[in-house]
Amino acid sequence: MHHIISTREYTTEMYDEILELAEKLEPIARGEVSSKIMDGKVLALLFFEPSTRTRMSFETAMLRLGGQVLNLGQVEASSIAKGESLSDTIRVTSQYADAVVLRHPREGAALMASECSSAPIINGGDGAGHHPTQTLLDLYTIKRESHLENLNVALAGDLKYGRTIHSLCYALSRYHAKINLVSPPELQLPERIVDDLRKANIDVTITHDMEDVIDDIDVLYMTRIQRERFPDPTEFNRVSNSMRITKELIQSAKPDMKIMHPLPRVNEISYDVDDTIHAAYFKQAFYGVPVRMAILCKVLGMEDKIPEAKR
Ligand code: CP
Repeated sequence: MHHIISTREYTTEMYDEILELAEKLEPIARGEVSSKIMDGKVLALLFFEPSTRTRMSFETAMLRLGGQVLNLGQVEASSIAKGESLSDTIRVTSQYADAVVLRHPREGAALMASECSSAPIINGGDGAGHHPTQTLLDLYTIKRESHLENLNVALAGDLKYGRTIHSLCYALSRYHAKINLVSPPELQLPERIVDDLRKANIDVTITHDMEDVIDDIDVLYMTRIQRERFPDPTEFNRVSNSMRITKELIQSAKPDMKIMHPLPRVNEISYDVDDTIHAAYFKQAFYGVPVRMAILCKVLGMEDKIPEAKR
């Protein structure tokens, strides 16, 4: 069974395969071409944490491919509220659906689910662990809006708890990107990930000041400082407004520098940046649809049914 739990062990060929499938699926994702590839297939969405993009882009992907979606909905309206365990919930849900997307606050929840599920599990984010489908759409965005070869990228914001960052680091290392880590000292990337990057011969720089890197980078990947991950609210208050991308800050950036963000944002990118040629974060949110279509086709073994892209 093909689960998607973490992209940490993915090879460049595995990433490239999904990116190529996504490109073929883009006309269907845009609604320009209709499809029945997933006719008769059911995708279950189990979200134990809030989500807009992951949940809705998976739903859009499945519906545009002609499949159907089962949504657990509010946790309070399910038997979890009566004390049912996550493992029993997965055992049951996986009998109703052909694949299950799980978002859960506990790191390792998706891996545990994959061990008791009778259907493929797709990790939609597990606490501060991993967010592999976000990583795949991030790579796709970089490929479409910038370039994956010889990339000089800044990863900024909450590098400590940011699961999108953790997953993306390993993916970027496959493409030998130069990685600049920009965060408040309290929110630095975990040392074990920095070590892994250096062992893979990745050029890693660490700074607390965006101005150190803004002139040279091709992509600035900004993230939210996540209130919900802090055990101590006073620690959150100390760092919550410490990083902000403004129009003024990006004035010296390369003309084709792109700003990405997994979203939601709170105040880390000012709204007047949205109208600049640098802003790629809303396109990135759209790219979640073709990429998640590609993931569904891969997980359900339907890659051969994808039509060639007509551009
Ligand atoms: N990027 C992302 O995971 O967004 P949601 O939390 O809205 O799904």
